[in-house]
Amino acid sequence: MKIAIIRELAQGERRVAGTPETVKKFKALGADVAVEAGAGLTADVADADYAAMGAALGDRAATVAGADIILGVQGPDVASITGAKPGAWIVAGLNPFVERARVDAYAAAGYEALAMEFMPRITRAQSMDILSSQSNLAGYKAVLDAAAEYGRAFPMMMTAAGTISPARAFIMGVGVAGLQAIATAKRLGAQVSATDVRSATKEQIESLGAKAIFVESVAGIEGEGKGGYATEMSEEYQKAQADLVSSHIAKQDIVITTALIPGKPAPRLITDAQIASMKPGSVIVDLAVEQGGNVEGAVLGQVVERHGVKIVGHKNVPSRLAADASALFARNLYNFLSAFWNKDQNAPVLDEEIGNAVRITQGGKVVSERLL
Ligand code: NAI
Repeated sequence: MKIAIIRELAQGERRVAGTPETVKKFKALGADVAVEAGAGLTADVADADYAAMGAALGDRAATVAGADIILGVQGPDVASITGAKPGAWIVAGLNPFVERARVDAYAAAGYEALAMEFMPRITRAQSMDILSSQSNLAGYKAVLDAAAEYGRAFPMMMTAAGTISPARAFIMGVGVAGLQAIATAKRLGAQVSATDVRSATKEQIESLGAKAIFVESVAGIEGEGKGGYATEMSEEYQKAQADLVSSHIAKQDIVITTALIPGKPAPRLITDAQIASMKPGSVIVDLAVEQGGNVEGAVLGQVVERHGVKIVGHKNVPSRLAADASALFARNLYNFLSAFWNKDQNAPVLDEEIGNAVRITQGGKVVSERLL
């Protein structure tokens, strides 16, 4: 059993899918581990640190040659993994809805691609969930990015020269990233409020000491769909939400948006007219910008200014904390493969529930229900 950890080739990707810690653990399971030279450099891991744990360092071709399993943060192009075993597993965040052509190429080449973002939201899979581990860090970093762009301080400060009022921060979308954004903004001393379409989040917002801003006027709201994710809301709800947001947002200094609906473009939560109602110098961070954006006018990979308000649209926010993001991502992959490790076969054997959820290509075909 040979596991290959490859260097990420996507532009701006600083993370790596394996760390010295996970190399050591895979070796202890009985696998051989090969690491592409330089794979960890952007995440502060030197080649020697992998080698010290027993990894074989080499160039791309040597790393993937004869590999049974290839680990990546993002999906590698098929042409870049020539030489892997027929039927080898590609285990990574494959972004299958966007990178459909690449998924088809995996199928055509006979690889078994496992999309880690399709991990089911069940208790036993929590430690394998890359969306959670990476969103958590993104929520934290979004607040720091906002603070860096903001021309004022977050906490209330009482000084000899006078008092500074605390920043007002509003978090829209209270999943994993939103909860961490609330906690981080609170720690920095902001006055924090938050909203979501899933009513279960109200209690979570309040338990973090923030104010819950919820649409109460529309009957029968329950934005929770399958697997704890949000669903698309009715027109009536969207209108009520827009009215509520309009009156609230004008008083905010910092807004962090994180709202996503799996397999769909991100819902539009803030319009240009609402941005115009905010105070100059306010900052909006759109964490959903890669999925189409929650904020009108947000530009992927840029900080832009509209009506005196800065709109931050950084790409790949977890990669901005590459060392910690890699450590958690690598552990997610290890937790996944080791949970299914069959000692006799010296290989992982997936069970039906998790296997069927994450496996997207097999036997030359695309097999995931979500992609058919
Ligand atoms: P997500 O990244 O898919 O979406 C972020 C947030 O945006 C969600 O809270 C969603 O309800 C909200 N949202 C969607 N449309 C919105 C709108 N129009 N307005 C305002 N908010 C909107 O969600 P994430 O972070 O993946 O979490 C979803 C749920 O899954 C949470 O309850 C989380 O605790 C749960 N979860 C469970 C896991 C497990 O049991 N293994 C692992 C990770 C998360």
